[in-house]
Amino acid sequence: MLSQPSQQYRPYPPIELPDRRWPQRVLSAPPVWCSVDLRDGNQALAVPMNVSQKLELFDALVRCGFKEIEVGFPSASNTEFAFNRTLIEKGHIPDDVTIQVLVQAREDLIEKTCESLMGAKRVIIHLYNSTSPAQRRVVFGKTKAEIKDMAVRGAEMIRERIGRLAGTDVRLQYSPESFSATEVEFAKEISEAVMGVWEPTAERRMILNLPDTVEVAMPNVYADQIEWMGRNIRDRESLIISLHTHNDRGTGVAATELGLLAGADRVEGTLFGNGERTGNLDIVTVAMNLYMHGIHPGLDFSNLNALRGVYERCTGMSVPPRQPYAGELVFTAFSGSHQDAIKKGLAEWEGKGCEGVWDVPYLTIDPGDVGREYREVIRVNSQSGKGGVAYLLESEFGIDLPKDMQREFGPIANDAVDRLGREVSGVELKGMFWDEYVGRESPWRLNHFHADGVDGVFRCRASLEREGVELQATGEGNGPIAAFVQALVAAGAPEFAVASYREHDLGSGSGASAIAYIQIRCEDGRTRWGAAVDTNIELAGVKAVVSALNRVD
Ligand code: KIV
Ligand code: ZN
Repeated sequence: MLSQPSQQYRPYPPIELPDRRWPQRVLSAPPVWCSVDLRDGNQALAVPMNVSQKLELFDALVRCGFKEIEVGFPSASNTEFAFNRTLIEKGHIPDDVTIQVLVQAREDLIEKTCESLMGAKRVIIHLYNSTSPAQRRVVFGKTKAEIKDMAVRGAEMIRERIGRLAGTDVRLQYSPESFSATEVEFAKEISEAVMGVWEPTAERRMILNLPDTVEVAMPNVYADQIEWMGRNIRDRESLIISLHTHNDRGTGVAATELGLLAGADRVEGTLFGNGERTGNLDIVTVAMNLYMHGIHPGLDFSNLNALRGVYERCTGMSVPPRQPYAGELVFTAFSGSHQDAIKKGLAEWEGKGCEGVWDVPYLTIDPGDVGREYREVIRVNSQSGKGGVAYLLESEFGIDLPKDMQREFGPIANDAVDRLGREVSGVELKGMFWDEYVGRESPWRLNHFHADGVDGVFRCRASLEREGVELQATGEGNGPIAAFVQALVAAGAPEFAVASYREHDLGSGSGASAIAYIQIRCEDGRTRWGAAVDTNIELAGVKAVVSALNRVD
């Protein structure tokens, strides 16, 4: 890197807009959405989608509720052209969905584009040419006037051909490509020149798309550019102002949100931000950001995992694990303190009957709203604490450890996970729990137990093994467990007493079993937990005593 970057790079000059209004505004309604997955997204793929992949993605976009979908650049390749024809001729386009096509200001391309649209019900013809100083100088070698003339000629060529699309509802869109790097005065001038040809009205508006083709500034600058255009362009009411951001500086979402505050009506973007270089705007994020503020975006992402699957299959791209809302890990907490807070927050939410205002720590929305499961929220690695361990045992296996036992088992599990040096599954955690408690059969093992109670006095007989040697023992107490404790001590176990006892069912059905947790206190004051499972609740308790005793060293 340069020691003096200012020798090579310059800050983007601010827009002169001292009374900017967008910072005071709040969003209260969704914009019109337009997916550009099948065009901008597709153009960015090493291997562009074929017709059947485009069809699968198109259908998925329709199911999400997109009413405007840019389906391609039909003059660019046979596949693109064929895709349009398939969509139209095979009746894939619902009546309320408008397909959009992109074209440059060249007669042969416009001709082919119009041909590809024959028979469609609703279309948007999207004309673009690039307008920034670098594009004018480097790519076109043209003056501003010549660039403007290109746009006007393109607009005229389209206007001349609209009549051929009889029976088709044709709407028009113009993009001064590289708008955000263009002087706002020139962007206004060229856009107004196109408006002069297309003559939009408040009843028949044209779409003026103002692309952040390459992010060159902070998102507040883009917002200023959008507000400036909205306030200075003539006949604003005859325009639908559209945003189209890319993500070069990592702020495509922010630029779009601020652009909406600045008065834009429409947003173009792609699922999960696929697109050239760092990608297009991730439309899922903007839509879900509105949703988490209580505004329904008008798009349905209730099954983001399935959508992600279609996207990955069709584009060959993958969604990173930390992609907002859709990534594998975005609703997951590994850290113990986060897990604890989430566990308590979810318990509170469930306690309220899962109704009211969502306010669960660390979770911006209910993962269930986008088809994610609570079970993926808490995952356990060496950073996790007792809360996460307990949550997983409870949510996956219904093992509801007493609080005090969580304090005992948490560090045991944590050490084991630390030794493994990786994340562990719920099944593995259960295995650790079994090894530590339920499966402990040494030095003591219970082979048979029987207890009878008369007038509140219980007598028991137990067949035991101690380090493999069989023993018979009897005892008496005010309950079967108390009687068993006496029998054990009589058989040579160290003196101990039951300090705590809990039990609950594990699942339902005829083979249902119960789990008992018992804490014992030894003479020297040390405590140990034990746990056991049995179809007979009394036996589960008795076996839990053996489990706890086997953990005394
Ligand atoms: O990024 C861009 O500017 C574009 C235009 C063609 C709208 O994709
Ligand atoms: Zn783009």
